[in-house]
Amino acid sequence: MSLEQILEGIPRGSADEALAREVNFETLPAHIAVIMDGNGRWAAQRHLPRVEGHRAGIESVRAVVETSARLGIRVLTLYAFSVENWKRPAAEVGMLMTLLKRYLRLELDTLNRNNIRFAVIGRTDELAPDVLDELAAGQEATAQNTGMLFNIALNYGGRAEIVDAARRAIEAGVAPAELDERRFSEFLYTAGQPDPDLLIRTSGEMRVSNFLLWQIAYAEIWVTDTLWPDFRRRHLLEAVLAYQKRDRRYGGIKPAAALSR
Ligand code: FPP
Repeated sequence: MSLEQILEGIPRGSADEALAREVNFETLPAHIAVIMDGNGRWAAQRHLPRVEGHRAGIESVRAVVETSARLGIRVLTLYAFSVENWKRPAAEVGMLMTLLKRYLRLELDTLNRNNIRFAVIGRTDELAPDVLDELAAGQEATAQNTGMLFNIALNYGGRAEIVDAARRAIEAGVAPAELDERRFSEFLYTAGQPDPDLLIRTSGEMRVSNFLLWQIAYAEIWVTDTLWPDFRRRHLLEAVLAYQKRDRRYGGIKPAAALSR
């Protein structure tokens, strides 16, 4: 959006204001994807049950969603629950689903006020009916919004998505000769969306954890040691500024190097 929009919510004279003023609004990432990691460690550091880390992580979700929308990011995707996360204790899985439902119910007004459209990516058909109802209500209530698209990746796996896309392409009767990268991407959960330009991972792990495997082919990766429940507007601004300093080449060479050949 604009500097004014982001400055509206930032205290004057703060470090966040200085960071926001450094952002180049002409070269924002179109799509930011986030692997929210470190909730368990955050809770362990405080001798709290793991679920308290997830609960605290909701405040970070709020901060990132609002800051991204104010910046004018077109798509934000948060990795909330992977296909592998079912291996966690049932009580933790149940709590994650409860937090998600509660978040959607409580945040609908804020999403609408910020013109944010909500969507879910993943194998949603395997989710419980009460979760599906809440997700459907959230998508329906924000369907008319024209601002940022906010994807929650839920029961999501990058390999599962590629398998699902292949199945859909076969079901749609696409002939092998017709199938190229552009056509294939139309069968992904993110069909029609720009690929992530920036992938953020919290808590210092250097892994992509089966997240958006197809779509992150050329994404810039930014990893911070900050644990997800501590992640705030400042960290997102730092990530965007770091992204804007990167030299993206998509497998090519720098224009200056090309000239000297
Ligand atoms: C990873 O931390 C985090 C998750 C598996 C879940 C993230 C979910 C939320 C923040 C809450 C709901 C989300 C939304 C979008 C409303 P971890 O438990 O793997 O942490 P650890 O690696 O320190 O154990």
